[in-house]
Amino acid sequence: MAETVYPVPADWAEHALIDEARYREMYRRSVEDTDGFWREEARRIDWIKPFTAVKQTSFHEADFGISWFADGTLNLSANCLDRHLAQRGDAVAILWEPDDPRNPERRITYRELHEQVCKFANLLKAHGVKRGERVTIYLPMVPEAAVAMLACARIGAIHSIVFAGFSPDALAGRITDCDSRIVLTADEGLRGGRKVPLKANVDEALKQCTSVDTVIVLRHTGADVPMAQGRDIDWATGVAGQAAACEPEEMNAEDPLFILYTSGSTGKPKGVLHTTGGYSVWVSMTHEYVFDYRPGQIYWCAADIGWVTGHSYVVYGPLMNGATTVMFEGVPNFPDPSRFWQVVDKFGVEIFYGAPTALRALMREGDEWVKKTSRKSLRLLGSVGEPINPEAWAWYHDVVGEGRCPIVDTWWQTETGGAMITPLPGATALKPGAASKPMFGVKPMLLDNDGSILEGATDGCLVIADSWPGQMRTVWGDHDRFFQTYFSTFKGYYFTGDGCRRDEDGYYWITGRIDDVINVSGHRMGTAEIESALVAHAKVAEAAVVGMPHAIKGQGIYAFVTCNAEVEPDDSLRKELVQWVRQEIGPIATPDVIQFAPGLPKTRSGKIMRRILRKIGENDFSNLGDTSTLADPSVVDHLIANRPRTG
Ligand code: WTA
Repeated sequence: MAETVYPVPADWAEHALIDEARYREMYRRSVEDTDGFWREEARRIDWIKPFTAVKQTSFHEADFGISWFADGTLNLSANCLDRHLAQRGDAVAILWEPDDPRNPERRITYRELHEQVCKFANLLKAHGVKRGERVTIYLPMVPEAAVAMLACARIGAIHSIVFAGFSPDALAGRITDCDSRIVLTADEGLRGGRKVPLKANVDEALKQCTSVDTVIVLRHTGADVPMAQGRDIDWATGVAGQAAACEPEEMNAEDPLFILYTSGSTGKPKGVLHTTGGYSVWVSMTHEYVFDYRPGQIYWCAADIGWVTGHSYVVYGPLMNGATTVMFEGVPNFPDPSRFWQVVDKFGVEIFYGAPTALRALMREGDEWVKKTSRKSLRLLGSVGEPINPEAWAWYHDVVGEGRCPIVDTWWQTETGGAMITPLPGATALKPGAASKPMFGVKPMLLDNDGSILEGATDGCLVIADSWPGQMRTVWGDHDRFFQTYFSTFKGYYFTGDGCRRDEDGYYWITGRIDDVINVSGHRMGTAEIESALVAHAKVAEAAVVGMPHAIKGQGIYAFVTCNAEVEPDDSLRKELVQWVRQEIGPIATPDVIQFAPGLPKTRSGKIMRRILRKIGENDFSNLGDTSTLADPSVVDHLIANRPRTG
């Protein structure tokens, strides 16, 4: 089938910040005169002390290290706030839309945001929070979450945001790993009309965490939550007496900015660490070029601040660029599937950036929900988090964008800080489903399993050959794990964990994870994490988790479970295990299928053959490969014969 190519619309080619010729020239310069390119791009940041060194990086074991702009100093909160005050102080920085449309929105100007951040920073300082200290943030999508992030950046504390959908156990693990003494939370969150007991979750988590002595609690729903004497502080009361000015701390470019935990193929989630200078340059630059952003435009990234997309493209990128950034507390289908587009109309959103999983869910509800809204303000659409299938792309383009708005399908990762492979709306002809072309300074390469470089149109393992400013710097507390995870598979390269195809036009098409990570509704899950949650249950002897195709979520969670000898597996145990995993990790890890298995396919040395389980999960028994090396090949027949029917 011939693929459709959408040329750059004429008005975009003419008016965009970057057209095709400019993209080519800038890209060439970024890889040929790397220091010169970044020296210029870094001017977008207000440095306190200018840097002299630009790029000092090596992916090789002997001299491994990544540092950018190392001798420069800056403060990111000042770059997001203070420098806009003179010109844009009264412009709206955050436009907040509540979960329930009957409640009022909030409009916070740069001046107001600056004041709130200063006061909150002073409150943190009053409670002894020091430069370099970790602050755990477990807040819903409310402006105070951005205030908390910026306040940490202002005083040089390292924030670690834990998605408010994670369970007390998951929260406790993250608090302990980064040895956080202070937690910021709210009484309750609200999503789709349902309350999320955040404070109760924190109380539960803190039974396991001895490090925490201070909890600051935001009154959001007004629910009556118990406050622990001497530990819990009311947010508003605490802020009330604070001074409205707080001098930003002078940070070194390589000082840590935040930790964000993310799932990998092995072990517990790792604390991805980003630093200040390179991240700022990278995120500000990509936000401006990818979205063709000009100050004053209304921009909406629908991600949660609990994920990296929320860090880079709800808060830091847009605010550095003086944007009006929309922050949405709710969900796409509450009160009805028109919600996104009603918010677009209400605020006159020009740029909308969302995840394919939401689009697929809305697409299924029918076009009427979209068509009853105007959406005439929309100019540009973005996609992130997982591959977008051509059907969803076409619907987004034709129905939501009425054929008028380019779609930027941005491929990147928590580890990369910002967009790495993406179309630019004024420069790139679009191919539905292709992340397309590398961002400035990014050198993607495809390797085969043995590490040989593949040229031309081909399929392979996606690696990045050289460093870029927004790259993560380490795994919190485990620098060796950082090297082993990303730089040891293919020597001298950053390994992404993704498979990828490059076509004859040099477009990159991400085909999905090739490690034991699955992508459920755009959320990254380590299969190992779900397995260890399952085996923590008293009745479970062994578990293996794989991804399965899922029409809405992209991938679903398929768990093979072997019970202890005396246990009679039945439907009620199945329900119990589903509930158990939700409790251990959170609702996003809810297994879609649990298949009880008397045995798992193992090699004679006892290694589970995941390749076979993946095929069974995919309901594809045609190509199971060689099963003769299995200790007991008959387990495979048993698994196939007893595979539950799935949709
Ligand atoms: C996947 C989210 C295809 C990919 C920003 C990557 C994508 C993982 C895309 C990172 C895209 C992200 N097309 N796949 N446009 N964007 N992915 O860390 O597998 O939550 O490795 O970062 O999501 O997920 P993470």
